[in-house]
Amino acid sequence: MIKNNINTKIIGNNIIYYDEVDSTNSIAWDIALNNKNCEGTVVIANTQKSGKGRGKNIWFSPPCTGLWMSVLLQPKLNPIHASKFTMLASLAVADALRNVANVTPVLKWPNDVLINSKKISGILTEMKNETDIINFLVIGIGVNVNIVEFPSELRNTATSLMIETNKEISRDELLQHLLIEMDKLYLSFQSDGFLPIRDKWQEYSDIDGKFVKIKNFPGNGNSEIFQGQAIGIDEDGLLIVRTDTGIQKKVQSGEVTIL
Ligand code: BTN
Repeated sequence: MIKNNINTKIIGNNIIYYDEVDSTNSIAWDIALNNKNCEGTVVIANTQKSGKGRGKNIWFSPPCTGLWMSVLLQPKLNPIHASKFTMLASLAVADALRNVANVTPVLKWPNDVLINSKKISGILTEMKNETDIINFLVIGIGVNVNIVEFPSELRNTATSLMIETNKEISRDELLQHLLIEMDKLYLSFQSDGFLPIRDKWQEYSDIDGKFVKIKNFPGNGNSEIFQGQAIGIDEDGLLIVRTDTGIQKKVQSGEVTIL
C-alpha cells in the first residue's frame, strides 16, 4: 500500500515489512550482505524486540506506535562521507514531522530530532566499508509516533507525536512523507552535494552560540571531553566548537550536552 502511494525514484523502491524483529538494522544488514544491489530498500517492523540505539542503548520499540525502520543506501563515496547521510535522514524526519503533524522539531547534532527539548526520533547509521569506499549504509530511523507512555527511565528525555499533539497520527501517512522527503534529499545530494542539505539542517538547529559539553569520539578509540561554544556545522557536517581556551575544534562524532 505504501509503495503504491509514493512515487520515489530510489528510497522505498523495495519495502520489506515484518510484524516483529530483533532490530530492523540487523535485518537490513543481512539483506545488504546477500544482495549486491539494495540501494533504496526499506525494512520496517511493527515492533522490535531489541531495537538498537546509539552507544549500546536499547531503543524502546513497542508495537503499533512508531516507525521502526532501516533504509539501505550504497553511495559510491569514501567512508568519511557517511555521517552526512545520518544528517540527511534526520532532516527528512524533521520535514516529515512538520508537514504531517504541524509540529516544530529541533535538530540536535549529530542525529537527534527533538520536540520541546525531548527526543522524538533518533538515527543509528551502521556502515560496511573498505578503506576508501562505502559498501553500504544501514540508516536506522526510529520515530515515536503514538506512544502514550514511556518507561520511567525515558520519561524525562523522550516524547512522541501523540504526547505533543494529543492526536493520533497515521503512521502510514508519516512514513510516506518520510520516504518522499528522504528521496528528494538523496537526489539533491547526488546532484548538488551536501551544502544545501547542511543549510536546511541548520535552519532546524538551535545550537549555534550555545555553550556545550562534548564527548568526542575521534575514531581512534580514545574519547575526549571538552567544553566550548558551538559555532555551527561545517561543509562536511562536522560540529565546530570554540573551546574555552579559544581553539576551534571540529567534532566528527560524539555526544553533545547543552550547558
Ligand atoms: C539513537 O539512539 O538515537 C538511535 C536510535 C535508532 C533506533 C532505530 S529504530 C529502527 C532501527 N533499528 C534499530 O535497531 N535501531 C534503529
